[in-house]
Amino acid sequence: MMRTHYCGSLTEAQLDQTVTLCGWVHRRRDHGGVIFLDMRDREGLVQVVIDPDTPEAFATADRARSEYVLKIKGYVRKRYAGTENANMVSGQIEVLAKEIETLAVSETPPFPLNDEFSNVSEENRLKYRFLDMRRPEMQERMVFRSKVTSLIRNYMDRNGFLDVETPILTRATPEGARDYLVPSRTQPGSFFALPQSPQLFKQLLMVAGFDRYYQIAKCFRDEDLRADRQPEFTQIDVETSFMSDEDIMQMMEGLTVELFDTMLNVKFDKFPRMTYADAMRDYASDKPDLRIPLKLVDVADLMQEVEFKVFAGPAKDPKGRIAALRVPGAGELSRGQIDEYTKFVGIYGAKGLAYIKVNDLSQGVAGLQSPIVKFIEPIVLQLLERVGAENGDIVFFGADKAKVVNDAMGALRVKIGHDLKLATCEWAPMWVVDFPMFEETDDGKWTSVHHPFTLPKGSVEDMKTNPGQALSVAYDMVLNGTEIGGGSLRIYTLDMQKAVFEALGISDEEAEDKFSFLLDALKYGAPPHGGLAFGLDRLVMLMTGANSIREVIAFPKTKTAECPLTQAPAPVDANQLRDLGIRLREKPKAEAGQA
Ligand code: AMO
Ligand code: AMP
Repeated sequence: MMRTHYCGSLTEAQLDQTVTLCGWVHRRRDHGGVIFLDMRDREGLVQVVIDPDTPEAFATADRARSEYVLKIKGYVRKRYAGTENANMVSGQIEVLAKEIETLAVSETPPFPLNDEFSNVSEENRLKYRFLDMRRPEMQERMVFRSKVTSLIRNYMDRNGFLDVETPILTRATPEGARDYLVPSRTQPGSFFALPQSPQLFKQLLMVAGFDRYYQIAKCFRDEDLRADRQPEFTQIDVETSFMSDEDIMQMMEGLTVELFDTMLNVKFDKFPRMTYADAMRDYASDKPDLRIPLKLVDVADLMQEVEFKVFAGPAKDPKGRIAALRVPGAGELSRGQIDEYTKFVGIYGAKGLAYIKVNDLSQGVAGLQSPIVKFIEPIVLQLLERVGAENGDIVFFGADKAKVVNDAMGALRVKIGHDLKLATCEWAPMWVVDFPMFEETDDGKWTSVHHPFTLPKGSVEDMKTNPGQALSVAYDMVLNGTEIGGGSLRIYTLDMQKAVFEALGISDEEAEDKFSFLLDALKYGAPPHGGLAFGLDRLVMLMTGANSIREVIAFPKTKTAECPLTQAPAPVDANQLRDLGIRLREKPKAEAGQA
C-alpha cells in the first residue's frame, strides 16, 4: 500500500503521527512563503502545509496544480487556534509535509471541482464524468449507494433469499415500455431483447423451487425519460413462494425500515395502506405525496344543472371529473400566482383553473371573489360547505375528463403544498393496494395496470364479464409521492393465465409464440408465488435528497438517452452490419452528409 491513511479520515486520533497520503490537489494557496494544499481522496479533504524548511517538498508543492496526484509524507499536528474548520472531519488538524512525490500531473480541468464548481452544464459534467465524480458531493452519493446495496444484501441473506442472476440477452419481458433490441449474428434477422425486468425468469425460479430469490438487477426500458427515469436502471428484484401478499409487504417494509434507520437514523412507524380508489379520489394520484395534507373533493354531482358549460359538460360525462382543492388560508394568493398555477395545470392538459376566494362567508355570495361565481350561484354555498371552506381560503377547481383532472389537480395539490410549505413531515412512506387489473387504452382495448402475470382478485368469470371493475393482488410502495417499488402475487395456474391473456386480447397463438415457456412451466407444479421490485436508483435519490436519479448513477444517460462520455449510441461500420444481416433504411447522418 502506498498510503497509510485516507486524507478525509485523519482526525486528532493521528496527532503527532507520521502519515503517508495519496490524493488529488483540491485547492492550492500561497500564503507568503507557506503553501497550503487541500488534498482530496474518496474519504474527504485534509489541509497540508508545506514550508520552505523542506525545500524539495516546497518546490514540488510549488509546481503542483489543481488535480495533480501527489503522495505526501508528513506529520499530523493540531491547527493553530482559530483556524480549525468544524465542517471537515479533519478540520482540527493539518499535515506538515516532509516529502512530496508527484504521481501524476493534470491539465487544467474543464470545470473546477472545488468550491468554485457551479453552473456547469449537465452535458459537460457527464462528458467528464470521471472528473465530476471526484467532487465530494458525488463521492458521498456513490459511497452512500454502495452502503445501501450492502445493507440490502445483508437483509436478504438474513432472510434466506438466494441471489440468482438472470439473462440480459433474452426475449421481450413486457412491463409496458419499448424494448431495446440486440441483433443476432448467428440467426440473421432475429433479435434479442434486453429485459425490462427479470419478471418471467424470477417466476421460473419459483417454479424451479428456489423459494426466495433476489437480485440487484439491471433493467432496460426504452421510454420517455424524466428526472426519475433512466433507460437503464437497477431494481432490487424479489420473488418468493408460499408467502401471502401480506407476508411479502411486511418483508419489504422491514427492509425499508432498516435502510432508513441505519442510513439516516429515521424511524418509520408501520406504513399506512390506501386503496387505489381512495388514493385517486383524495389525491388524484396512485402515488400520493402524503407529506402534503391537502385533499381533493368531488363536486360533479352539484354541477349537473349549472349554466357554466365548463362544469356542466364534465359533470354529465361518465368519464368526466370535477375536483375541488381547498387551500386553507391561501386567500391572499395574488392574481400573478394564480396565473402561474393556471399555466402549471396547462402542462397536464387542463384548459383553465377556476377558483373562489372566500373573503367573508357571513356575506354569502357577496363575500366571495371569483370569476365563476356568477355562473354557479344557485349551488355555490352548498359547494363551499361540501369542501369545508372557511374565511381566508381559496378553492381551486378542475373540470375535464377524469384523466386530465387527475393529472392536473394531483400535481397542483403537491405543488401548492410545497410552495406554501404545508408539508407536515419529512418522510411519508405508504402502500397503495387494490389496483385495478386493467385499464382502457384510447382505442378501447384493455391493458395490464401492472403486468399480464399479476393475479386478479375474485373469479375468472367476474374478471371476464367486467374487466373494468376487476382488482388485482398488487401493491406499490410509495415514498414522498414517488413510486419506489411495486409488486404483486402472480398467476400460477394455466387456466387463469390464459383467461388474463384473453382479456388482454392476446390470442392463443400469440401467447404460445411469446410465452410458451411460461405456459409450459405452469403445467408442472408451479407454486403460489409473488414478489416485488424496488427501483434502487429512485430509492437512493430520495434518501440522498438528490434532485434526479442521474445524480446517484455513476454513468447515467442524458434525457435523450445518450451517453456524452462514450458518445453511445454510435454508428457502426458497414462490415459489422453486414455480419448481422442488417441494412439501414436511411444512411447514418455522418455518411449522408458526405454523399
Ligand atoms: P415496475 O415496472 O413497477 O415493476 O418496476 C419496479 C420499480 O422500478 C422502478 N423503475 C424505474 N426506475 C428508474 N427508471 C425507470 N425507467 C424505471 N422504471 C421502473 C420504480 C418501480 O417501482 N417486474 C415488476 C416488479 C414485480 O412485479 O415484482 C416491475 O418491474 O421504482
Ligand atoms: P372561461 O369561461 O373559459 O373564461 O373560464 C372561466 C374560468 O374558468 C377561468 O377562471 C378559467 O381558468 C376556468 N376554467 C376554464 N376551463 C376550466 C376547466 N376545464 N377546469 C377548471 N377551470 C376552468
